[in-house]
Amino acid sequence: MLVTLEGLDGSGKTTVWEALQDTYPDAVFTREPTETWYGEAVRRSLTDDDADPVAELFLYTADHAAHLAQTVRPALAEGRLVISDRYSDSRYAYQGATLEGVVPRPMEYVRGIHQPFTRAPDLTLYLDVDAETAAARSDRGNKFERVEHLRQVRDNYERLVDGEPERFHRVDATRSPEAVIDEVEQVLQRRL
Ligand code: TMP
Repeated sequence: MLVTLEGLDGSGKTTVWEALQDTYPDAVFTREPTETWYGEAVRRSLTDDDADPVAELFLYTADHAAHLAQTVRPALAEGRLVISDRYSDSRYAYQGATLEGVVPRPMEYVRGIHQPFTRAPDLTLYLDVDAETAAARSDRGNKFERVEHLRQVRDNYERLVDGEPERFHRVDATRSPEAVIDEVEQVLQRRL
């Protein structure tokens, strides 16, 4: 089973992902961007305000392809539980925003690129915070933290949740980390 954690920067998903490592010691914990050289290329692009959004999309997508082939699919084939901190929905939501005005219907475009090769998550925990809270909590100085941009990203996540309500579980992530972790663990217990 493939479970993914999604949300804005500062939504607390990495804290939840770390807490789950104690609860599910046998699961495979992974993330995007990955720790491979593909992921490093992505991180370089993240700190470059002049990065071309189309080039950036393909860096992220290359990282995802390698992540799927080298980590996610092999673990699922062994019957393992895989829990990923960010996955394809991050591309649909974030690059769907950075590509606005660059390509027509950006989110559909990004989904279309993934569709032939990706593997959809079985369950996605969406840690929902408003853009202002996300920007205030997140101390990274990269371009993704601008509130206006995060608003757009959040709108895209909303569209994704509305389109697949059975795959997404929305968690109110404006609450304390303990409350958020509790809810996530309850949902996982029910679903696994
Ligand atoms: P992180 O906060 O989970 O470490 O993610 C790093 C940043 O990368 C965050 O601002 C979201 C962004 N991102 C994308 O724009 N597209 C993607 O596909 C992924 C995986 C991350």
